[in-house]
Amino acid sequence: MNTTAPIASSPPADPVSDAVLLDVNGIEVIYNHVILVLKGVSLRVREGRIVALLGANGAGKTTTLRAVSNLLRGERGEVTKGQIEYRGERIERLTPADLVRRGVVQVMEGRHCFAHLSIEENLLTGAYTQRLSRAELAAALERVYAYFPRLKQRRTSQAGYTSGGEQQMCAIGRALMANPRMILLDEPSMGLAPQIVEEIFGIVRDLNSRERVSFLLAEQNTHIALRYADDGYILENGRVMMEGRAADLATNEDVKEFYLGIASGERKSFRDTKFYRRRKRWLA
Ligand SMILES: Nc1ncnc2c1ncn2[C@@H]1O[C@H](COP(=O)(O)OP(=O)(O)OP(=O)(O)O)[C@@H](O)[C@H]1O
Ligand SMILES: [Mg+2]
Repeated sequence: MNTTAPIASSPPADPVSDAVLLDVNGIEVIYNHVILVLKGVSLRVREGRIVALLGANGAGKTTTLRAVSNLLRGERGEVTKGQIEYRGERIERLTPADLVRRGVVQVMEGRHCFAHLSIEENLLTGAYTQRLSRAELAAALERVYAYFPRLKQRRTSQAGYTSGGEQQMCAIGRALMANPRMILLDEPSMGLAPQIVEEIFGIVRDLNSRERVSFLLAEQNTHIALRYADDGYILENGRVMMEGRAADLATNEDVKEFYLGIASGERKSFRDTKFYRRRKRWLA
C-alpha cells in the first residue's frame, strides 16, 4: 500500500542537480528479529540537495539513517525488505568503513565526540580512512576550521569540557575530515539553544552550497529543518506520510497544523480522519 501523499504543486526538479545520489526503496527494518520499525520507507537524495527527514519521537528517523550507513547490526537490527542504492550501487552489504570511503558519512545522534581527546584530536580521527600525508591533514584541518572558527579557538580543549554546540560542530567537523559527498546528520539541533542551532544550520547550508555536500538530515525541529532543506519527508510510525519540496511542506496546512504548531489544540496524528479526508482530496 502506498501511503505517501506527494505534494502536487512541487516545481519540476532542477535539471543541473538532478542525479539521484541516494535511493532508498521500500525498506523494512526489524530490531531483535521481531520489532518491525520501518514499514516500507522510500526516499531519494538528489546530488547537491539538503533533504530533511522529519517526524516525532520514535517515528523511525534514526533507524532510517542507520539503515543507510549500515549501523543497524550493532543495534540488533536488519533491513529485511527493500533496496538501498548510492550512485546506482547497492550498498546494503557494505561496511560503514566502505561507505566512508565512497563518501557517505554519518554524524550520529547525541554528537559522540571522544570526551578525553582534544577538539583537534577528535577531528583527526575523522580522517583515518583517508591515509593523508601530514601536509594534507593540516590542509583538511584548516578547511574544517574555515567553516567552524569556534573549533579553531577551542582546538586544544578537551572535547568533554566544550559546550553542546561546540561538540555538535566537532562531530560535523570530524565527518568533514573524511571528505564526504553526503553527510547523514542525526538531530543536529538536539538540546541546543536556538541561536546555536541557527549557526549550525547556516554552516550546513554553506557546506552544501560551496562544497556541494548533500545532506540527509533527521530532525524533530520541523521549523528550522524546512527553512534550510530543499526537500522533505515526514515519517510517522515507520512510514513516509508526506513528501515534497521543503517550501511546499512548510506552507502545507497539515504540516502547519501537525508539525509546526500553527493551529490550536494538542498535536494530533496524521492518521486522524481529517488527514485522510485531505489526502483523498490531493489524490482526486
Ligand atoms: N536498538 C533498538 N532495538 C529495538 N527497538 C529500537 C531500537 N532502536 C530504536 N528502536 C525503536 O524503533 C522505533 C524508531 O526509533 P528511532 O530511534 O528510529 O526513531 P526516531 O524517529 O529517530 O526518534 P527520535 O526523534 O526520538 O530520535 C522506536 O519505537 C524505538 O523504540
Ligand atoms: Mg532519532
